Amino acid sequence: MEEKRYLTFALGKGRLAKKTLELFEKIGITCEEMQDPDTRKLIFVNEELGLRFFLAKGPDVPTYVEYGAADIGVVGKDTILEEARNIYEVLDLGFGKCRMCICGPASAAELLQHHEQIRVATKYPRIAKDYFYNKKHQTVEIIKLNGSIELAPIVGLSEVICDIVETGTTLRENGLTVLEEVCPLSARVVVNQVSMKMENERITKLIRELKKVI
Ligand code: PRP
Repeated sequence: MEEKRYLTFALGKGRLAKKTLELFEKIGITCEEMQDPDTRKLIFVNEELGLRFFLAKGPDVPTYVEYGAADIGVVGKDTILEEARNIYEVLDLGFGKCRMCICGPASAAELLQHHEQIRVATKYPRIAKDYFYNKKHQTVEIIKLNGSIELAPIVGLSEVICDIVETGTTLRENGLTVLEEVCPLSARVVVNQVSMKMENERITKLIRELKKVI
């Protein structure tokens, strides 16, 4: 008999992974060893269901999925837009909801209206570029940072930032505000394009079941 092929899942480490596993549990997909907070293991197998899971840095999830190292990934829409990989986005899981926004001190609002040549600090240069160049037709200088983006306008690195806003607490506590909204974000399921054909039955069944519980 032909051996059953594992379906491999790449999950973005952190907040999304926990919620994803809770959701999978609702449709009978469990992976106990993955729940152990002290484990340093990188890959987990559920032999019975023929599934494998691994945790990766969020921005690497679309890469694993594009190359077929994972059949399925769960990752934020922000990462999908920024990485722009050749993958199918098949389902909005409805959690991890937040917004990609242009933020800054309230005084920066007019710089956006008058299409000034301003500096935009962000962890998401592709999203920022697309927004300013293709949607707003405003020429800006984009400065790539790797975290704590809110610092940039405070210390004078940039006039505004393009960043994720969830509760708005970080902005509030730093005297900044949302100036414009770029797009809404949430956790999405992505699928490798070849797997979608070769494992269509298993993957569509999984998506159908997930849809019922979200
Ligand atoms: C994200 C984002 C904001 C913050 C927004 O940062 O970049 O800084 O969360 O959340 P809030 O609206 O609820 O305050 P994250 O904590 O992921 O870390 P980072 O600054 O290193 O990107």
